[in-house]
Amino acid sequence: CGIVGYAGNVTTACGKPLEVCLQGLRRLEYRGYDSAGVALTAPGMGSVAVRKKAGRLANLETDLERRPMPDATVAIGHTRWATNGEPSDVNAHPHTSADGHIALIHNGIIENANELRFNLQTEGYAFVSGTDTEVAAKLLGKVAATVIEETGKADLFESLRRVARMLSGAFTLLAVDDRQPDIVVGARHDSPLVVGLGEGENFLGSDVAAFVAYTKHAMELGQDQAVCISADNVTVTDFEGNVVTDSKRFTVDWDASAAEKGGWPSFMDKEIHEDPEAVGNTLIGRFNTAGDIVLDEVRIALEDFKSIDKIIVVACGTASYAGMVAKYAIEHWVRIPVEIELAHEFRYRDPILTPRTLVVAISQSGETMDTLMALRHAREQGSRVLAICNTQGSTIPRESDAVLYTHAGPEIAVASTKAFVAQVVAAYMLGLYLAQIKGTMFPDEIRGIVAQLKAMPAKIQWVLDTQCETVDKAAKRMLNAHSFLFLGRHVGYPVAMEGALKLKEIAYTFTEGFAAGELKHGPIALVDEGEPVVVIVPSARGRNTLHNKVISGIEEVKARGAFTIVVAEEGDPDAERYADVVFWRPICPTLLSPLVDVVPLQLFAMDMANLKGYDVDKPRNLAKSVTVE
Ligand code: G6P
Repeated sequence: CGIVGYAGNVTTACGKPLEVCLQGLRRLEYRGYDSAGVALTAPGMGSVAVRKKAGRLANLETDLERRPMPDATVAIGHTRWATNGEPSDVNAHPHTSADGHIALIHNGIIENANELRFNLQTEGYAFVSGTDTEVAAKLLGKVAATVIEETGKADLFESLRRVARMLSGAFTLLAVDDRQPDIVVGARHDSPLVVGLGEGENFLGSDVAAFVAYTKHAMELGQDQAVCISADNVTVTDFEGNVVTDSKRFTVDWDASAAEKGGWPSFMDKEIHEDPEAVGNTLIGRFNTAGDIVLDEVRIALEDFKSIDKIIVVACGTASYAGMVAKYAIEHWVRIPVEIELAHEFRYRDPILTPRTLVVAISQSGETMDTLMALRHAREQGSRVLAICNTQGSTIPRESDAVLYTHAGPEIAVASTKAFVAQVVAAYMLGLYLAQIKGTMFPDEIRGIVAQLKAMPAKIQWVLDTQCETVDKAAKRMLNAHSFLFLGRHVGYPVAMEGALKLKEIAYTFTEGFAAGELKHGPIALVDEGEPVVVIVPSARGRNTLHNKVISGIEEVKARGAFTIVVAEEGDPDAERYADVVFWRPICPTLLSPLVDVVPLQLFAMDMANLKGYDVDKPRNLAKSVTVE
C-alpha cells in the first residue's frame, strides 16, 4: 500500500492538504491500486471528512470533482493493495473511529486483529468492513477516549503509541483527529514510513516519492518509532514515548520529474529506455584516479571483508535473477562460493551462516518484507549483510551493515526493468572489489573488465536503437500464443528466467524459464507444433562450447515444430540458420551479456502486454513493493 500524510499552516492551508495527498497517491499508486481514499480535517470541522473508492485513484478523483471536499489543515491518503478484505469501497482506507473523530490508514497485516475485533464487539463496537485496519481505527477511537478521560484533553500521539503497543504483525499507521486539526501522527513496525521536511509544512510517506514534488529534505524513521508532524514541528518517539533525537536526515538525489512519464506512453517504456543510464550511473563515483575500485559507502572493515569466504544472495523476483547472474561472475572472479536463495525460503531452512559469510540482500524498493526478514535472520546468526538497493531512506539498507546503492533513479512500473541491470552492475562491482582486495585477479584484469562495463551503456543503447522494430514484429506474430518456454545456459539461464517472469507479470501469459541443459530431461515434452521457445544463445567466440550446445537445443525444439525466438550475437550464422526470429546483441564479454540480452525480452513483454490492451505499468494483482510476508 501507499501512504501519505500532510500537515500545513492553519491559516493558509486551504485545499493544499488534499492536493498534496492526491499528488502523493498518484506517485505511490505503483504500491497498490485496489482502492484509494483520503481523510482530512480543519479547526471547527467537528469530525473528520473521509472519501474513498474501490479501484484506481482515478475513481476517487472523479468522485472528488463531482463532490468537492472542504478546505483543511491536515490530511492523510492511502492507495491499497488488498491483503485483508476484498477490494471494495467499504474495505478501502481510511477507516474511522466509532465516534467519527478519528480517521486512520494502514499498511501491513495486523495479526491479532481477530482477537481485538472480538473484544471490541463484546464491548458493543460495530464493524462495517472485514479489514484489520478498521479494528485499529476503532481501537484508536476507544484508546483516545480513555486518554481524554485520564488527562482531560485529546492526545492523538499518545493514543496511537498505546495502540501500537497493543498490535502484533506489521504496520504503518497514520491518523488524524478533528480535535487536534494541526497534527498528523504515525507509527511504524516492520513497515515503511519516511518524513518529508518542508518549510511551514511537513509530510509523511511510504517512500520519498510521496512528497518529492514539494521537498527533497527527508528523515528516516526507525523500527518501532512514532512520529507527530505539524506545520512547524516534527517529533519522533519510541512506542513508550521517549523522544528520539538521532533520526537520520537525507536529501533525495532525484527530481520529481524523474518519477513522471515525460512524454513516454508508459513508465515501463521510459524505464526500459533508461537501462543504459541506470548502468552508467551505477558505475559513477566508484573508482579512484588510479582506476582502482573504491566502495566508500560500504562501511565494513577491510580485514572483515577480506575474510569473507562465502556469499549468500537473498532476494525476491527480478532482484533474485540479478543475484543469479552475479553468482557466475563472482565465483569466477573471487573463487568463493556464492549461493542465491529466494528470501522467503532462506529464513525457514536453517541456513549455514558464519561471521565470514556475507549475505547480500538485493532489493529495488528496499522494503520487500521477505528480504528484510531474511537479512534480520542473517544478522541474528552473526553474518554481515550488505544491501544492494535503489531507494534511499528505505528499511533494508538501514538495517544492513553496508549498502551499495544502485543509481537507476525511481522505478515506477510494477515490473522491474532498469533496476535489474543496475543490480547486476552493483553486484559486479562488489565482486570486482572483493577480487581486488583478496588479490584473486590482477589489477589489469580488473581494469579491463571495468572498461568493458563502462562500454555497456552504449551497447544497450544499440539494442534499443536497432532491435525495437524486430521485437515489435515478433510480439505481433506471437499475440495468440498461450505459453512460452524460455531457455538459456550459464548467465543466459537467469536471463531466461527474467524474460519469462516479465511476460508472465504483464502479459499474463503462462511462461516457464529453465536451464537449456534441462530441456531433454523434461520440458521438451511441452514442445508441440508452433510452441514459442525463446533461447538466449551465448557467443560463439573463443570456441565457446556452450554455444554449440545451446544451438543443438534449438535444433531439437525446431525438429518438434517449435517457433524459435533467439537472442544471439550479431552475425552468428547458426542463430540465423535455426531461428525464426533473432534479436541481436552487439559483441560483448559473456559475463556482461545479461545486461544487453535482457533488454529485448523486457521490450517483448511490454509489446505483448500493450498489444493485448493491458496496463503495462500496473499489472493485475501485483504490487511493486510487497511489504507483507
Ligand atoms: C515484487 C515486484 C517485483 C520485484 C519483487 C522484488 O514482487 O512485483 O517486480 O522484482 O517484488 O522487489 P524488490 O523491491 O525487493 O526488488
